[in-house]
Amino acid sequence: MVRFYNVIELESQIKEISHQNIIKNDELIVPLLAIEIDITESKIYLVMPYFALGDLSGTIYNNFMKNQPFSERMVIQFLTKASLALSYLLSNNIVHRDVKSSNFLVTKHTHDELDCVLSDFGFATSVSNIQMVIDDSSCTMKYASPELIETEMSTFKGDVFSLGCTLFEMMSFDFNTMLWKVIEQDEIKAKLFIKERIHKNFSEYSTACVDLVLSMLEKDPNNRPDYESIIKIAKEHYC
Ligand SMILES: Nc1ncnc2c1ncn2[C@@H]1O[C@H](COP(=O)(O)OP(=O)(O)OP(=O)(O)O)[C@@H](O)[C@H]1O
Ligand SMILES: [Mg+2]
Repeated sequence: MVRFYNVIELESQIKEISHQNIIKNDELIVPLLAIEIDITESKIYLVMPYFALGDLSGTIYNNFMKNQPFSERMVIQFLTKASLALSYLLSNNIVHRDVKSSNFLVTKHTHDELDCVLSDFGFATSVSNIQMVIDDSSCTMKYASPELIETEMSTFKGDVFSLGCTLFEMMSFDFNTMLWKVIEQDEIKAKLFIKERIHKNFSEYSTACVDLVLSMLEKDPNNRPDYESIIKIAKEHYC
């Protein structure tokens, strides 16, 4: 788990963040006691709008229950918006570190459209912030990158991996596999497994789309695309 030690830094970052694909936190409430005693042991409250459609993990589960795969158009729509949000955060020196389906709140969901905002900055940290603690009790293991598991450190490429896991969940309706584990065991077999799971659920996803997701799930962070490349590929192929 990564937490801000500096309330002033957290507050100023939250106030500065303004993007159409990122939740707008209206207010930060820090109990006085937390400032006076030990911020790391205390709760910080964020006031935010309520999203009646819930989060993306619920939407994925509902589609699974209705046996209704997401179209490629919706997958790419989501990927583009998520990448724009994460790229904006990165340009503000923020790595999210807890990218997962339940941290995207759904603003629109029709048969062929999906719109979400990225939420939850509880784990976000500035790229420059070296004062952080990591423990596995709250790190969301299922979406963790291999390097985070191995070294407890990661760059924005860790967020790219977690976004890849979110897309895998969306495209395969596999809610249980810890991809970092599968990839650690055998990278080539892992790629085959990922492709198979996705195509078993919905055979119509294009090779370009599946390959893009696979590239985000590369074991070596250097081989994963950055957000600009993801957005560019998504645009080239699907607009
Ligand atoms: N602004 C919101 N509007 C509507 N529902 C929300 C909102 N914020 C959170 N939720 C719902 O509450 C659930 C719990 O949110 P919370 O962020 O505490 O847990 P989480 O996302 O499952 O885990 P984590 O603490 O690791 O982010 C979310 O999954 C979502 O369904
Ligand atoms: Mg959350």
